[in-house]
Amino acid sequence: MNIQIFDSQLELDAYAANLFIDTVRSKPKAVLGLATGSTPIGIYAKMVEKYRNGEVSFAEVTTFNLDEYVGLIPYNDQSYAYYMNKHLFDHIDIPDTQTFLPNGMAEDLEAECVRYDQMLLERQIDVQLLGIGHNGHIGFNEPDHALSGGTHVVRLKEATREANARFFAAMDEVPEYALTMGVGSILKANSIILAVRGADKADIVKQALTGPITTEVPASLLQTHPRVTVLLDREAGRMLG
Ligand code: PGA
Repeated sequence: MNIQIFDSQLELDAYAANLFIDTVRSKPKAVLGLATGSTPIGIYAKMVEKYRNGEVSFAEVTTFNLDEYVGLIPYNDQSYAYYMNKHLFDHIDIPDTQTFLPNGMAEDLEAECVRYDQMLLERQIDVQLLGIGHNGHIGFNEPDHALSGGTHVVRLKEATREANARFFAAMDEVPEYALTMGVGSILKANSIILAVRGADKADIVKQALTGPITTEVPASLLQTHPRVTVLLDREAGRMLG
């Protein structure tokens, strides 16, 4: 694994944004795997800045997001569809028809998972961005005795709902279910960027990167992937070697 530790958030954001932009410049039809949460916000802001400076075009890019809550309409400001429009898609030249998220409002969620997987099967993600949850989740693949390879419906752990409650008006507004890309799809990406900030993630970063590979720490499966770049701020990296 290529592990990079940064003194400042801005440096981390710029480095990650450049990895995406270099990919798109060398391959205009690149397929990008995108994530939500607090960590990618600065990365997307940097990508928007570079787009505005004329350094890159996303006109031919296709994107797939990792996950979406079940039951939030796309214009609910807590849905990941809303987040992606707000932080990235509304500010760059990517057509709406080339951005995909699982549809958490689908009447038949199982059929929606099959549909999403079918689209993922037809394309190879060039670069997949990931964050990590305090419990080691990637996307919404929560720790368990077994993990799913493909897109599936997941019941969110209470700890995950509590961690995400900061974005909602009240805890009972945090959805109980989500759709997430599976670990198999994530690991099929050509390359992966794991970006993590903050002292509260230092312990899980150490476990994921240096501990045993176990479904109880889904991010530990990244150790099996040949092209993972880990971007950490000093706090998140403080327990590493
Ligand atoms: P964060 O979340 O970027 O908001 O820390 C990451 C995650 O839970 O996957």
